[in-house]
Formats: sequence, C-alpha cells, structure tokens
Amino acid sequence: MHSVAPTSIADTHDSPDVSSTVLTTPDRSASCSPALDEKLNAPGSASSNKSLHSSRSREEPISSPRPIRSICCVGAGYVGGPTAAVLALKNPAIKVTVVDRDERRIRRWNSRHLPIYEPGLAEVVRIARDGLGDVSKVEPQEGSRTPNLFFSTDVSRCISEADAVLIAVNTPTKMRGTGKGCATDMTSFEAVAAEVVRHARDGTIIVEKSTVPCRTAQMIQEMIHIQRPGARFEILSNPEFLAAGTAVQDLICPDRIIIGSAPTPEGLEAAQALAEVYASWIERSRIITTNVWSSELAKLVANSMLAQRLSSINSISALCEATGAEVNEVSRAIGADTRLGSKFLRAGIGFGGSCFKKDVLSLVYLAESLGLYEVGAYWRQVVEMNEYQRDRFAARVIKRLNSTLVTKKICVLGYAFKKNTSDTREAPALEIIKTLLDENPREIAIFDPCCNPLVIEEEIRALQKYGPPLLSDDGGCVKIYSDAYAACADSNAILLVTEFDEFMNFPIPAARPAAQAASPAKTALAGVELSKLQLNEEPGCSLDCPDCQMGTGYGDDGANDADTLPKKQVDWAKISSSMKSPKWLFDGRCVIDVPKMEALGIRVEAIGSSGWSV
Ligand code: UDX
Repeated sequence: MHSVAPTSIADTHDSPDVSSTVLTTPDRSASCSPALDEKLNAPGSASSNKSLHSSRSREEPISSPRPIRSICCVGAGYVGGPTAAVLALKNPAIKVTVVDRDERRIRRWNSRHLPIYEPGLAEVVRIARDGLGDVSKVEPQEGSRTPNLFFSTDVSRCISEADAVLIAVNTPTKMRGTGKGCATDMTSFEAVAAEVVRHARDGTIIVEKSTVPCRTAQMIQEMIHIQRPGARFEILSNPEFLAAGTAVQDLICPDRIIIGSAPTPEGLEAAQALAEVYASWIERSRIITTNVWSSELAKLVANSMLAQRLSSINSISALCEATGAEVNEVSRAIGADTRLGSKFLRAGIGFGGSCFKKDVLSLVYLAESLGLYEVGAYWRQVVEMNEYQRDRFAARVIKRLNSTLVTKKICVLGYAFKKNTSDTREAPALEIIKTLLDENPREIAIFDPCCNPLVIEEEIRALQKYGPPLLSDDGGCVKIYSDAYAACADSNAILLVTEFDEFMNFPIPAARPAAQAASPAKTALAGVELSKLQLNEEPGCSLDCPDCQMGTGYGDDGANDADTLPKKQVDWAKISSSMKSPKWLFDGRCVIDVPKMEALGIRVEAIGSSGWSV
C-alpha cells in the first residue's frame, strides 16, 4: 500500500486512503452525496426518518443497555485499524474484528508487517491480537490475556456476528459528476452500508465512523426500510478525531468522544451501549452525546475550524513578512489569550493531509446545496488561502534565487504532510516541487526521514505522465535520497517543507526519551513497560512472504520502524560546509532558530518574517 499523490487517482488496493471492502469506481465518484439528496432540504418531510427525529429528552433516564460483546469494524485503513486496535486493547472482554476485502491489507494486519505506521500501534496490536502470556493453562497466569483483536476478509460473516458494526471506509472528495471537487464521494460508504444492512443481525448497532455529510444516517435508515423492513437497527454517529502520527495517543487520551443517536429510547440506549465501551478507559465527562445530525456535522466543523485557524494565521504571516512583524511572536501573543489558546497557530506552507481540505469542501458543498452561498464562499476561502500560502512560498524561493533556478540544486527536506508520519496525501511538498520544476533547475533533491523513497519516486513519476522524464534515473532532474547529507550536498538552497525533529537546529527537549516515556503503548497500559509484559510471539511469516522479501522494514505506506530507531538531528554545520554559496534555507514551517543558522553562514527566509537582509 503506497501513499498516493494528491493529484493521482490511484488503484484502490494501493491507496492508504481507501479502507473499503467494496470496489470504488475508477475515480471513486460514481455515487452522489446523500447530503445533497433533496430530502436534505426537508428535515421535517414525510420521508424524514421517524426514529431519528421523534423527540425525547436526552436527559430522561434510559434502561440499562444490552452490552456490546462483539464489534465488527469495516475498513482496515488509517481509521479502522488503529480505532479497532485500541477498542480491543481497552476492552479485553469484547471481540473486535476488522474486516476488509483487500486480502493483502488483512494479511499484513495479521503479520509482523502492519500496513500502516503509527507510533505505538504495533505494540497495541501485539497485545490485543496476539494476547499476553500463556492462557492455555487451567489457571491463566497473572497478566495474561486472550487475543481479542482479529482481522478477516470474511466481511459478511463478521458483520452478521457483531453486536455493533463500525463503518470506517474512505470518504474522499468526488472527482467527477455533480459536486465534483467538492462533494463527498460516498461510493464506498454506501456500498458498505448496504452490505451491513443486508447481513447484520436484527438489533445490531450501526456506527458511522467515517467522516460523512450531514444526514447520512438517513440514507442508511432508508436502506433499512427498503431492504429489511421491520428490522430494528439503531444508527449512531461516532466520528473519529485521530490525527496522523498521533493516532494511538489520540485514541487513548481523546479530548472527547461524540456519540450521536436518535432521541428515542432505543437510540439513547444504543448510544449508552457504545458509551460503555469507551467508558472502560475514558472519563464519562468526555463522552458527549448529541443527536445524529449534530454529531455528523460536528466532525466536519471541527476540521473546518482547525483549517480556518491555520488559514487565518497563514494570512497573517503574509502581513508579517511585509511589515517586519514576526508571525511566531504574533502567534505566541494571541495564543496566550485563553479564549483563543495556543494550538494550531503555527504558520507554515499550508495544511495538508487527507482530511482538512476534503472536509472543508464537504462543508462548502453542504452550504451551497442548501442555497447558503455566502456560507459556502466563506469556507471556500479557507482552502483558497491554503493554496495561496503554498504558492507564495514557492514564489518567494524563486524570487530570492534571482528568479532563476537554471544550474541550481534545490534540496527539499521533508515530503510527508507533517512530521512523524509517512502519509503524503495532500502534502504541499508535491505542489511546491511542481512549481520549482517549471524553473528548470539542475537538480531537485528530496529527503524525508519517514517516507519510503520508492513511494516518493512513484508520486514524482506520476507527475511526468504527459511530460518529459522527471526522475534522475529516467534522465530527469529529481533525485530521491535516503541520506540527508547527500541530499543537501552541493545545493544552492534547502527548503524545509516538513517539520521533522530531525531537521531542527536546536535541541528538541528530550525528543526521544520523553516520547518513549510517554509512549502510547505504555500510557495504554497504565505505565507498564512493554518489556515487562509477557508478549507472545508475533505471527510467523511464510518463506515466500512478500514483505520479508522487500527486506526494508517498510510497510505498505512506506513507513519505517521509526519507533525503534533513534531520531538523530542533522548536523547543520556539516550541511553548511557542503552547500554552495550563497547558502539559502527557506523555512516553510517556522521552526528554525534563525540566528543559529545564520551563524553557520546560511541565509534564512522563513514564513511570516521579513527575511534575510544584508
Ligand atoms: C486532522 C484532525 O486534526 C483530526 O482530528 C482529524 O480526525 C483528521 O484530520 P491530521 O490531518 O492527521 O488530523 O493532522 P493535523 O495534526 O490536524 O494537521 C493537519 C495539517 O495542519 C498538517 O499539514 C499540519 O502540518 C498543519 N498544521 C497543524 C499547521 O500548519 N500548523 C499547526 O499549528 C498545526
């Protein structure tokens, strides 16, 4: 499984963003968004689902719910895999099965070669999937536990055996048809929902985990009315809020859990049953129950508000550059206002990742489809500002290098959309590289400490589809390095594109030890060190295991075993000595200590500050 270029429409089997059990159309855009259903405009219409709307106070007491004993999570991707693993870890008495019809992906989840990399994930999987100690004895040893996390391709059977089914498939942006480039492509979600409705036992709780347009629950409800009239299913919305690179930590210590349900006794009971699952490790006060529509919308709004905050500070960074103000200082000053808070105020080259852009656009589409054009325009501007910020950075690089890159070597440090992940979806790096390529440089060198060079190569090759070769191996000027020093050697300019700790020019406070001390796996186990657990053998690989044969330690998405490798910061003095004068560093993430860098003879231009002057 490789990360896909933002622009490419990749094969579903190779895309980490598709965690579906069903085929999507080649461009994943055949179905329309249920949010646009004409029924959307008529919440009180006759077709509007009764059980989702009949009123009952959320505060009214509800009878004790039937406990959830088995969970089936449909979709073994970035959301489904880590979510299921932590649910299983924290609920040893619940059987959690992750299903996906992608056999390769399931094989990897059942092996030592997990298909995605997230700090702490491998440990959590080892405990829940492989168990602890010997449980075969009549009296199991203290600290032992039976495996309760399973991965399977037998989708319909697993759905039919579960008390609750979580739908965690990919919901990307539609690439064609009505609402293309904006609406949510519900192809996978709709197909999985249909599969669930077809196979689930009467009484199963259906949970929307994927980010979906507001009122998607109604689509499922209508499927139930048509396919299983008389069956009693409750539909809950329980969106994920996990971020790449911190997914396990986010699952173990979430700010909140949102559970949306119908305000009927049955709906509230189902919400309560799901809340019990989370309550095994999360304080009740953090579990928020709402109606289904609020929960569905809250997810879109949460990401949109975060994205809006970044676009706001990024717009201010342009003002800073023109006025002599320093954006980091402005951020610190405003972030100290507790009404604003300090998070998500680091200016940069724009947000990336698989969620922000698509969720803001989904909100835009929702607003526009309701005729709320001003609302749509307001949110669209968040995305436009993001693109402006990225393009502005590339333009500044070119301008500083005397508006020509011919004969120059430019080194791009970082390719993933943020640090500690190998996820390259919507990463600004690729668009910046595209702009630089138009200037015909001598070389563009790329180094990323987390991404598999082969994945980056594939994405660059996808760019050259209709043009001349781009990769150096094919005669082009783009070269992917697996060594930072070789990438920087002989360069005229370095672009810091991802804020990996490895690239910082100041000591990161106890970077690795602290990270390890607070390692998710340890937190998960309330401070118990993994080394003190009776971990069982990981599943063995067959002699012809394709992952072993790759011999790189890379998973599908190209992640290396970064948890176990020490993070080593680069030696900037060494880099400086190998650069061509004048030596330029363009800090796209506002993370470099400028005076220190200048002391090494490197001129720094950073986002949000007026930059180098003689
Ligand atoms: C996001 C949401 O945070 C998460 O709750 C949701 O469920 C999935 O989408 P993710 O995209 O994985 O998570 O990463 P996040 O840490 O939110 O960063 C998003 C982008 O914003 C990255 O490109 C990051 O570099 C950028 N960012 C973040 C900044 O530029 N500055 C900041 O201060 C914070």
